[in-house]
Amino acid sequence: MPTESLDYRGRKAMEKERIYQRVIEQLKDLFQKSDDPIARMSTINALLYHKLNYYFWCGFYLLKDNELIVGPYQGPLACLKLAHNKGVCWAGVREKKPIIVTDVHQFPDHIACDERSQSEIVVPVLSPDGQVYGVIDVDSDRLASFDETDARYLEQIVGMIFMK
Ligand code: SME
Repeated sequence: MPTESLDYRGRKAMEKERIYQRVIEQLKDLFQKSDDPIARMSTINALLYHKLNYYFWCGFYLLKDNELIVGPYQGPLACLKLAHNKGVCWAGVREKKPIIVTDVHQFPDHIACDERSQSEIVVPVLSPDGQVYGVIDVDSDRLASFDETDARYLEQIVGMIFMK
Protein backbone atom coordinates (compact mmCIF):
# COMPACT_ATOMS: atom_id res chain seq x y z
CA MET A 1 0.00 0.00 0.00
CA PRO A 2 1.39 3.46 -0.80
CA THR A 3 2.40 5.52 2.21
CA GLU A 4 0.00 8.40 2.64
CA SER A 5 0.52 11.32 4.97
CA LEU A 6 -1.82 11.64 7.94
CA ASP A 7 -3.10 14.87 6.48
CA TYR A 8 -3.96 13.26 3.18
CA ARG A 9 -5.68 10.33 4.88
CA GLY A 10 -7.59 12.71 7.13
CA ARG A 11 -8.84 14.68 4.15
CA LYS A 12 -9.85 11.51 2.34
CA ALA A 13 -11.76 10.30 5.41
CA MET A 14 -13.63 13.60 5.67
CA GLU A 15 -14.45 13.56 1.97
CA LYS A 16 -15.86 10.02 2.30
CA GLU A 17 -18.07 11.09 5.23
CA ARG A 18 -19.30 14.10 3.31
CA ILE A 19 -20.29 11.99 0.29
CA TYR A 20 -22.10 9.38 2.41
CA GLN A 21 -24.00 12.12 4.25
CA ARG A 22 -25.08 13.69 0.98
CA VAL A 23 -26.19 10.30 -0.40
CA ILE A 24 -28.29 9.74 2.75
CA GLU A 25 -30.00 13.12 2.32
CA GLN A 26 -30.78 12.29 -1.32
CA LEU A 27 -32.10 8.85 -0.39
CA LYS A 28 -34.43 10.29 2.27
CA ASP A 29 -35.97 12.42 -0.41
CA LEU A 30 -36.08 9.76 -3.14
CA PHE A 31 -37.53 7.08 -0.86
CA GLN A 32 -40.67 9.15 -0.33
CA LYS A 33 -41.61 8.14 -3.89
CA SER A 34 -41.70 4.39 -3.20
CA ASP A 35 -41.25 1.90 -0.36
CA ASP A 36 -40.63 -0.98 -2.75
CA PRO A 37 -37.40 -2.69 -1.58
CA ILE A 38 -36.13 -3.45 -5.13
CA ALA A 39 -36.68 0.19 -6.17
CA ARG A 40 -34.86 1.35 -3.05
CA MET A 41 -31.94 -1.09 -3.42
CA SER A 42 -31.50 -0.09 -7.08
CA THR A 43 -31.47 3.58 -6.11
CA ILE A 44 -28.91 2.97 -3.35
CA ASN A 45 -26.57 1.23 -5.82
CA ALA A 46 -26.91 3.91 -8.47
CA LEU A 47 -26.05 6.69 -6.05
CA LEU A 48 -23.21 4.96 -4.19
CA TYR A 49 -21.60 3.49 -7.32
CA HIS A 50 -21.44 6.84 -9.08
CA LYS A 51 -20.50 8.99 -6.09
CA LEU A 52 -17.72 6.98 -4.43
CA ASN A 53 -14.79 6.57 -6.79
CA TYR A 54 -13.30 3.54 -5.05
CA TYR A 55 -16.48 1.49 -5.63
CA PHE A 56 -15.77 -1.05 -8.38
CA TRP A 57 -18.88 -3.18 -7.83
CA CYS A 58 -21.84 -2.52 -5.56
CA GLY A 59 -24.92 -4.66 -5.10
CA PHE A 60 -27.15 -6.87 -3.04
CA TYR A 61 -27.25 -10.62 -2.48
CA LEU A 62 -30.63 -11.72 -1.20
CA LEU A 63 -31.37 -14.73 0.98
CA LYS A 64 -33.94 -16.96 -0.75
CA ASP A 65 -34.63 -20.54 0.40
CA ASN A 66 -31.31 -20.50 2.24
CA GLU A 67 -29.40 -19.42 -0.89
CA LEU A 68 -27.74 -16.11 -1.68
CA ILE A 69 -28.98 -14.88 -5.07
CA VAL A 70 -27.81 -11.68 -6.71
CA GLY A 71 -30.19 -8.72 -6.53
CA PRO A 72 -29.89 -5.20 -7.95
CA TYR A 73 -26.29 -4.17 -8.66
CA GLN A 74 -24.02 -1.78 -10.54
CA GLY A 75 -20.66 -2.69 -12.02
CA PRO A 76 -19.25 -5.63 -13.94
CA LEU A 77 -21.10 -8.94 -14.30
CA ALA A 78 -21.30 -10.81 -10.98
CA CYS A 79 -22.02 -14.38 -9.79
CA LEU A 80 -25.76 -15.13 -9.88
CA LYS A 81 -25.61 -17.45 -6.88
CA LEU A 82 -22.99 -17.83 -4.15
CA ALA A 83 -21.75 -21.25 -3.03
CA HIS A 84 -23.42 -22.09 0.23
CA ASN A 85 -21.69 -20.91 3.41
CA LYS A 86 -18.51 -19.79 1.63
CA GLY A 87 -17.05 -16.32 1.16
CA VAL A 88 -17.56 -12.87 2.57
CA CYS A 89 -21.31 -12.48 1.92
CA TRP A 90 -22.16 -15.66 3.79
CA ALA A 91 -19.89 -14.52 6.64
CA GLY A 92 -22.02 -11.35 6.84
CA VAL A 93 -25.20 -13.43 6.98
CA ARG A 94 -23.83 -15.75 9.70
CA GLU A 95 -22.32 -13.02 11.85
CA LYS A 96 -25.12 -10.50 11.26
CA LYS A 97 -22.56 -7.69 11.34
CA PRO A 98 -20.36 -5.82 8.85
CA ILE A 99 -17.35 -7.70 7.46
CA ILE A 100 -14.43 -5.55 6.25
CA VAL A 101 -11.85 -7.34 4.10
CA THR A 102 -8.72 -5.27 3.42
CA ASP A 103 -7.22 -7.87 1.05
CA VAL A 104 -9.55 -10.45 -0.47
CA HIS A 105 -6.61 -12.77 -1.20
CA GLN A 106 -6.12 -13.19 2.54
CA PHE A 107 -9.77 -14.14 3.16
CA PRO A 108 -9.75 -17.98 3.24
CA ASP A 109 -12.78 -18.85 1.08
CA HIS A 110 -13.41 -15.54 -0.68
CA ILE A 111 -15.50 -15.98 -3.84
CA ALA A 112 -13.94 -14.05 -6.73
CA CYS A 113 -16.73 -13.03 -9.12
CA ASP A 114 -14.23 -10.66 -10.78
CA GLU A 115 -10.52 -11.13 -10.31
CA ARG A 116 -9.91 -7.36 -10.31
CA SER A 117 -11.48 -7.09 -6.83
CA GLN A 118 -8.88 -6.41 -4.13
CA SER A 119 -10.87 -5.38 -1.06
CA GLU A 120 -14.47 -5.72 -0.01
CA ILE A 121 -17.12 -4.86 2.56
CA VAL A 122 -20.34 -6.73 3.33
CA VAL A 123 -23.12 -5.34 5.54
CA PRO A 124 -26.23 -7.37 6.43
CA VAL A 125 -29.69 -6.08 5.51
CA LEU A 126 -32.30 -6.87 8.15
CA SER A 127 -36.00 -7.11 7.46
CA PRO A 128 -38.42 -5.34 9.84
CA ASP A 129 -38.72 -8.53 11.96
CA GLY A 130 -34.93 -8.57 12.49
CA GLN A 131 -34.23 -11.52 10.17
CA VAL A 132 -31.39 -11.35 7.63
CA TYR A 133 -32.96 -10.37 4.29
CA GLY A 134 -29.64 -10.28 2.43
CA VAL A 135 -26.44 -8.25 2.31
CA ILE A 136 -25.04 -5.24 0.54
CA ASP A 137 -21.65 -6.09 -0.92
CA VAL A 138 -19.13 -3.56 -2.21
CA ASP A 139 -15.88 -4.42 -3.99
CA SER A 140 -12.93 -2.17 -4.78
CA ASP A 141 -10.11 -2.77 -7.26
CA ARG A 142 -7.72 -1.26 -4.71
CA LEU A 143 -6.51 -2.78 -1.44
CA ALA A 144 -7.90 -1.57 1.91
CA SER A 145 -10.59 0.72 0.51
CA PHE A 146 -13.11 0.14 3.29
CA ASP A 147 -13.09 0.96 6.97
CA GLU A 148 -15.41 1.58 9.92
CA THR A 149 -16.75 4.74 8.26
CA ASP A 150 -18.05 2.75 5.28
CA ALA A 151 -19.52 0.15 7.66
CA ARG A 152 -21.29 2.79 9.75
CA TYR A 153 -22.82 4.63 6.78
CA LEU A 154 -23.72 1.47 4.88
CA GLU A 155 -25.54 0.19 7.99
CA GLN A 156 -27.46 3.45 8.12
CA ILE A 157 -28.25 3.28 4.37
CA VAL A 158 -29.48 -0.33 4.33
CA GLY A 159 -31.51 0.47 7.44
CA MET A 160 -33.55 2.80 5.20
CA ILE A 161 -34.73 0.05 2.81
CA PHE A 162 -37.71 -0.97 4.96
CA MET A 163 -38.44 2.39 6.55
CA LYS A 164 -41.97 3.64 6.08
N1 SME B 1 -16.78 -11.78 -3.00
C1 SME B 1 -18.10 -12.19 -2.57
C2 SME B 1 -18.91 -12.69 -3.73
C3 SME B 1 -19.71 -11.64 -4.42
S1 SME B 1 -18.80 -10.67 -5.46
O1 SME B 1 -17.75 -9.96 -4.74
C4 SME B 1 -19.74 -9.60 -6.32
C5 SME B 1 -17.99 -13.24 -1.49
O2 SME B 1 -16.89 -13.74 -1.21
O3 SME B 1 -19.01 -13.59 -0.90
